[in-house]
Amino acid sequence: MKRLAFLVSGNGSNMANLIRRIKKGEIRRAEAALVISNKPDVKALGRALEFGVPSVVISHGDYDSRESFDEALSECLDRHKIDLVCLCGFMRILTEGFVRKYYGRLVNIHPSFLPDFPGSHAIRDAWNAGVKETGVTVHFVDTGVDTGTVILQKKVPVLSGDTFETLETRIHETEYDVYPEALNLVLEGKVSAR
Ligand code: GAR
Repeated sequence: MKRLAFLVSGNGSNMANLIRRIKKGEIRRAEAALVISNKPDVKALGRALEFGVPSVVISHGDYDSRESFDEALSECLDRHKIDLVCLCGFMRILTEGFVRKYYGRLVNIHPSFLPDFPGSHAIRDAWNAGVKETGVTVHFVDTGVDTGTVILQKKVPVLSGDTFETLETRIHETEYDVYPEALNLVLEGKVSAR
């Protein structure tokens, strides 16, 4: 059984979906062990409480550097004996030291078909670019921004009647299928970071 931690910054719908799928046995060999938020009072923390998963706030504003924030993160993950770290809308760039330490045990979901539209406004950027399709990617985190080894990707069409909101909803619904499937691949040892 691998102990999973979920790093969040806000809404936490992907985190909630993953915890739900773990509890239903659809993500196998996994235990939802910890939620860490870099912000207090976010919706994700309420969701974690509802699921009975322990949560910790490590507020980035309390640290004077990225390094000291990441050290606190790392110390917390180690104290809880976490095997796999899942970023779920965690909107902080992690330091090279942190990424190297957890390399191969650190995964992220990104709302585009990478390498297209990296960064923190991927859905908006795809919408503004007027593309006919975009997508969803789950990848191992490396020291670049949204550049790590891809675990699983799925395309999402942009339909003629779409608004930004309908596209966004379709992308999130795709995320809720792709992230669990990708985690099963990792947990079954079928993929690893290059
Ligand atoms: C998700 O769409 C996730 O892919 C995106 O943030 C959203 C979080 O939603 N992540 C990124 O853009 C990372 N670059 P959630 O908090 O409801 O899971």
